[in-house]
Amino acid sequence: MFSALSPLLRIPALSGLTQKALLKMDAETAHGATITALRLGLAPEQTRADGAELRTNLCGLDLNNPVGMAAGFDKNAEVARPLAQMGFGMVEIGTVTPRPQVGNPKPRLFRIPSAHGVINRMGFNNEGHQAAFERLKGLRVPAALGVNIGANKDSEDFIADYVIGVQKFADLADYLTANISSPNTPGLRNLQADEALRRLLGEILATRAKARTRVPVFLKIAPDLDEAALDVIAKVVLATDLDGLIVSNTTVTRDAVAGLDNADETGGLSGKPLFDLSTQKLAQMRQRVGDLPIIGVGGIHSPQSALAKFEAGANAIQLYSAMVFGGLELLDTIKRGLVAAVRAEAKTNIAELVGSKTADWAAGKARL
Ligand code: FNR
Repeated sequence: MFSALSPLLRIPALSGLTQKALLKMDAETAHGATITALRLGLAPEQTRADGAELRTNLCGLDLNNPVGMAAGFDKNAEVARPLAQMGFGMVEIGTVTPRPQVGNPKPRLFRIPSAHGVINRMGFNNEGHQAAFERLKGLRVPAALGVNIGANKDSEDFIADYVIGVQKFADLADYLTANISSPNTPGLRNLQADEALRRLLGEILATRAKARTRVPVFLKIAPDLDEAALDVIAKVVLATDLDGLIVSNTTVTRDAVAGLDNADETGGLSGKPLFDLSTQKLAQMRQRVGDLPIIGVGGIHSPQSALAKFEAGANAIQLYSAMVFGGLELLDTIKRGLVAAVRAEAKTNIAELVGSKTADWAAGKARL
């Protein structure tokens, strides 16, 4: 299905070799090499259109398919177009903060190879709003372009930083994500609490109302919230005209990787070991918000796990960590698997499978 601008990457064995070489490098170096390769046009490009089974309307956005690149991969909006050309239906850049910041000292990105997990404590390293804005201005991205906004670590007013983000990107992005769930900016996740969240969403949505475009706004939450905290978030969100939720960011828990190499590194855990937790939280949130759009993220690593997110209640999905282990081919494998699942159920579109197993996932009865 993929052809490649580079003939080398067309050959599966060599593409596998590249993946192996990347896995031998330090994790952050490998990530930098991947971004460079994409920037240079070395990524495989999708040649055949996505099947009608995958067409998705998300908050008025027409997606060719409901599979997105999660935030954190392209923090500085360097490769939004190549990612879209690879076949992602959505590409979310960022998190970007108003001012550039260096993030935490290295090393700050770790693999847990035996579990296909990743731990990061990057700390919103990014070149700031203006750099991302300049790169995206006038760029044609053949997918829904999301801009994920956050707050500078040393900001005196976190909420004001989100407001500046909405002002900067409302007329440029196809959707915005307010990320209040990174574990690597001290205090940020306190914005998930009742009063703070009310104020944050009030200010974000009032700012959006003043922009030329009514850009859809999503809120990205942590998987480390108990049911009482989910109740609060659902109640606050449903009292606003927020467009949707992204469930979830990385977890600070380590149960799923206890005793493994790198498991004790500080930061957020993602990848396969995050799957069950993030999918349960997604289902529990689905039970609370009716048909509000939810993007399911966390641990997707196969067609089966992608399908399970929809069954738990996601309208669309995103992934990142599994690409570290599975390579870029994983996107195509997942999309093909989703089409097959729709056909196997004698349905015509993936939307018909959304929420078919929400109760089981919410109760912790379903597992992958
Ligand atoms: C992330 N993630 C993330 N999320 C976000 O909203 N803003 C960010 O800047 C980042 N940065 C980031 C860096 C790294 C190295 C990783 C691995 C992850 C979280 C990411 O978008 C996603 O929510 C989680 O990683 C769970 O999905 P996966 O990776 O398990 O598919």
